[in-house]
Amino acid sequence: MNDNYVVAGCILHDLCKIYELTDGINVEYTEEGKLVGHLVKGLEIVDRYAYKIKNFPHYTKMHIKHILLAHHGEYEYGSPKIPQTSEAFLVHLIDMMDSKMGTLELIKKTDSSTGNWSGFVKHLDRIVYKSELPFYPDYIQEDEMGEEKREHKPQPSVPAKPKNMNTQEPKTSMAKMLGGLKIEE
Ligand SMILES: [Fe+2]
Repeated sequence: MNDNYVVAGCILHDLCKIYELTDGINVEYTEEGKLVGHLVKGLEIVDRYAYKIKNFPHYTKMHIKHILLAHHGEYEYGSPKIPQTSEAFLVHLIDMMDSKMGTLELIKKTDSSTGNWSGFVKHLDRIVYKSELPFYPDYIQEDEMGEEKREHKPQPSVPAKPKNMNTQEPKTSMAKMLGGLKIEE
C-alpha cells in the first residue's frame, strides 16, 4: 500500500465541503452543494491544481480521484464508486470511524436522556451507552513475577463512579489498559 495516497486522501476527501456548505452557526447546503456535492467538486479541484503542475502523472491523478469518489464507501451513501484499492478502502474506513466516533462523543455530551442510555441515534441506528465504563484498579495486583492476579472480592452491583482518569497513576499494566492512562515509554 502507498501511504502517500492515504495521506492525500485524508487531506482532500472532504475539503470541498467548503463549497458544499455555508459557514456560520446555521450550516446549510449551498446551491453547488445541492447540485454537485463535495465528492464531484473534489474531482474538479484535483483537475484544476494538477493541471498547474507540469507533467503531473495521469495515473496518480486518477487514483486520487478514485479515493475521493469512493470515500463514502457505498452507492447508497453517495459514492458513485465503491473503494477498489487498498488506499481508497483505508481512507473510507478512517472517514467512517471518525464520523461514527465523533457522533458517539457528541451524543455522550449532549443527549438529554437521564440514566446510562441515550435516545435513539439515527446516524448510528442504535441507542448508545453514555457513561464511562467501570474501572477497578484496586482489585488487580501483580505477583513477584509481574503477572496480574485478581482478588476475588465481590464487585459492586452498581459500577463505582470512575475516578479522574487523567490524574491517577496506574498500578498495573492491566490498569493502564483499562484506564487509558499514561503509558510509560
Ligand atoms: Fe465526505
